[in-house]
Amino acid sequence: MKLSIENLNSFYGSVQVLRELTLHVNTGEVLCLLGRNGAGKTTILKSIMGLVEHNGSIMLGDCEISGLGAHEIPRKGIGYVPQGRRLFAELTVKENLQIGMLIKGEDSHSLDRIFKLFPVLKERLKQESGTLSGGEQQMLAMARALCLQPGVLLLDEPTEGLMPSMIASIRDVVLKLREQGVGILLVEQRIDAVLPVANRVAFIENGYVKAEMERDELANEPDLMRHYVGI
Ligand SMILES: Nc1ncnc2c1ncn2[C@@H]1O[C@H](COP(=O)(O)OP(=O)(O)O)[C@@H](O)[C@H]1O
Ligand SMILES: [Mg+2]
Repeated sequence: MKLSIENLNSFYGSVQVLRELTLHVNTGEVLCLLGRNGAGKTTILKSIMGLVEHNGSIMLGDCEISGLGAHEIPRKGIGYVPQGRRLFAELTVKENLQIGMLIKGEDSHSLDRIFKLFPVLKERLKQESGTLSGGEQQMLAMARALCLQPGVLLLDEPTEGLMPSMIASIRDVVLKLREQGVGILLVEQRIDAVLPVANRVAFIENGYVKAEMERDELANEPDLMRHYVGI
């Protein structure tokens, strides 16, 4: 599914944080947002989910979703994994997944699909989420978002604080979803986590898209990397 954001302006109270922002994520494509802390990356994802006051257009396929209530947007087909994972720590893996299913009333068929992507979760259904490793918690957060079979998935720094082996597992899942035609908007601060999966990259600063390019063009732009990400 295609996600098109045009002229997005977003506000926290009277403070404008995003300005005239335009971005497109095509079907089966990973667009990566790069930028320093405070650049506005999380605010972009929250605006898409209807969690931040904004104006402008946000289209999912042919459907305008800007202005819909935050509870309606996941049902339209957008999955969201917030920064920091936000699981219900006292609930088990199974209960967290059941919450993901409730939103749309999905069946065991969806669960089978999810266990194919994240086999480790199937072995841990009765474990309390708060006792999972960081990587397993990230997988559960992604699994919960995928219960709705979204056409577009928003991931906010999924590899933050994870070991290299977990980063690799998450990368594999992103690649599988992309193959299935899911459009993915991926926020990352680590370029090494981005390069293997991104089709395109957009650099965000002060609420603006400052540059946008194909992944393969990045190698020719070391100055952009230094300026926008600090490497
Ligand atoms: N709930 C909030 N209320 C007011 N300002 C906020 C809030 N959340 C974020 N901001 C501000 O919005 C700007 C962008 O933040 P954010 O989108 O979280 O950046 P990033 O994800 O790129 O680190 C920052 O200046 C931040 O201080
Ligand atoms: Mg953020």
